[in-house]
Amino acid sequence: MTERELLPVAAGPRIRSVLLDLLRQAKGRAIGSFAFVVGATAIGLLTAPLLGRVVDLVATRQSAAALGWPVAGLVLVAATSAITTAIGVSMLARLGETMLADLRERFIDRALGLPLEQVEKAGSGDLTTRVTNDVSVVADAVRQALPALARSVLTIVLTLVAMAILDWRFLVAALLAVPIQLHTVRWYVRRATPLYAAQRAAVGAQQQQLLDTIGGAKTVRAFRLADAHVDRVRERSNGAVELALRGVRLATRFYGRLNLAEFVGLSAVLAAGFLLVGANLATVGVATAAALYFHSLFGPINTALALVDDAQAATASLSRLIGVTDLPSPAEPTRVGPPVDASVKAAGIGHSYVDDHPVLREVDLEVAPGERVAMVGASGAGKTTLAKLIAGIHQATSGTVSIGGVPLDQLGPAATRRAVALISQEVHVFSGSLADDLRLAAPEAGDEDLHAALAKVGAAEWVEALPDGLATVVGEGGHRLTVTQAQQLALVRLVLADPPVAILDEATAEAGSAGAKTLESAAAAALEGRTGLIVAHRLTQAAASDRIVVLDSGVVVESGTHDELVAAGGRYATLWTAWSGLRGHRW
Ligand SMILES: Nc1ncnc2c1ncn2[C@@H]1O[C@H](COP(=O)(O)OP(=O)(O)OP(=O)(O)O)[C@@H](O)[C@H]1O
Ligand SMILES: [Mg+2]
Repeated sequence: MTERELLPVAAGPRIRSVLLDLLRQAKGRAIGSFAFVVGATAIGLLTAPLLGRVVDLVATRQSAAALGWPVAGLVLVAATSAITTAIGVSMLARLGETMLADLRERFIDRALGLPLEQVEKAGSGDLTTRVTNDVSVVADAVRQALPALARSVLTIVLTLVAMAILDWRFLVAALLAVPIQLHTVRWYVRRATPLYAAQRAAVGAQQQQLLDTIGGAKTVRAFRLADAHVDRVRERSNGAVELALRGVRLATRFYGRLNLAEFVGLSAVLAAGFLLVGANLATVGVATAAALYFHSLFGPINTALALVDDAQAATASLSRLIGVTDLPSPAEPTRVGPPVDASVKAAGIGHSYVDDHPVLREVDLEVAPGERVAMVGASGAGKTTLAKLIAGIHQATSGTVSIGGVPLDQLGPAATRRAVALISQEVHVFSGSLADDLRLAAPEAGDEDLHAALAKVGAAEWVEALPDGLATVVGEGGHRLTVTQAQQLALVRLVLADPPVAILDEATAEAGSAGAKTLESAAAAALEGRTGLIVAHRLTQAAASDRIVVLDSGVVVESGTHDELVAAGGRYATLWTAWSGLRGHRW
């Protein structure tokens, strides 16, 4: 297998600048939600000093009436903080969703515009996992992990500030816990990162083994491999379980050490309180508030640490999404003016899908405006490839394709799409009404235009006979169309899109069949007034063309009118004799 060239991944600084950019676009909402969340957190922090006040009032044996104000304050704080939190969180969610939607749009936009060569080289799996997995990992983070992480960090910072305002000596005592916490986190990350990676790999291996065993169940049974496979599944499962247990043990020790840090910090705060109250430097209420503050840090710290993993996963996915959105867009055409006519010129075209395996070599082809040229050749000769190169769907490895005198790379993708249309062998009917399906080619077309186009290719009759006419739902789950009908619709779309150059790479319909005849006259009608290149599987179509080009193993071996080529007695003459014999036989 050849080495995959995976799609690129963005680096850290680039991720930050994209995020800042997205934030800047939603500036108002970003500032608003930040203000609300900060406000809510700050208001919530008033609870501790109010409780401290209550403690002081009780400790100095004040009357119950004196408790009225602090208690009312507590209720007010609770209500206000709940309301501002709700508003802030919903604004934050909106902000996240807007940024996510923006990113997703950019991603899809770039992904759809990627050169096919690049997607094929990376393997379509790479792009699909980015569209599905990575988008959902980032979405989950935006919806859950990030708001929680932001609020935790904010709570920690503001609580420390509040402690400093209360009395800086309490803050110093509380900070005794920090070295232990930092040490614990470093200790944990060093062990957890390889362990979780091994765990993910083991779960992947276990799932792959299950898929192999279940997917190949028939073979496994036929060759009596069941025992060996069950052993292998067991082995993989045991490996995964062992790693999971190590993960749980590690997490337990991690939280154990964090608890130690909390114990040390809280003890220090209480000891400080004991000394300060004893020396009359603080009231019991202030000491209580400090202890409450420190205690209220436990939750946010644990949440923030637990979310670091999620944040890392989200960053990895984000780098894969931004990697794709950052791919350079197809070069903007260097304006050289529109095609002067509907001529096609391919000069020295060579193409290889796989390095060193050329499927086209030095192909030259000129088609005059309005001319009808047929391409014939054995299967695998390169007809479809040449068609795709001329339509600008693939880029030729060497040589130039020009439409109306303008090379495709100067014409740019949009103008190329307007100038050339390729109707391929596999026609896709999109789900939806028939009218919608046709309007893909010409969104502005009115019903009369659709009817006229249908009539032109001889499809009006059967469309009118459909249960709901143009409104009939076709495609997946809808009215089933025959292959001939689907091909005819493709020709109707061609008429509606009305490009000056059209290439038909038709499905092989059995010669002499009713379908073949219908399609042949439909194609002739649809090509009226256009330059036409037809990949002809039935030589009657070739015979009716102005000129015929014979391809063999990627090389043009003959070119001329039907009569010339038959008279020349070469490759085409042989094909024609065989075809006429076959046709005579069938008819
Ligand atoms: N996407 C691809 N990747 C690699 N090789 C390809 C690809 N598409 C086509 N080929 C190879 O290129 C050669 C030319 O294929 P092409 O489809 O152009 O032939 P064709 O003349 O249209 O044949 P047919 O009459 O069967 O449609 C074949 O050898 C084919 O296997
Ligand atoms: Mg083909």
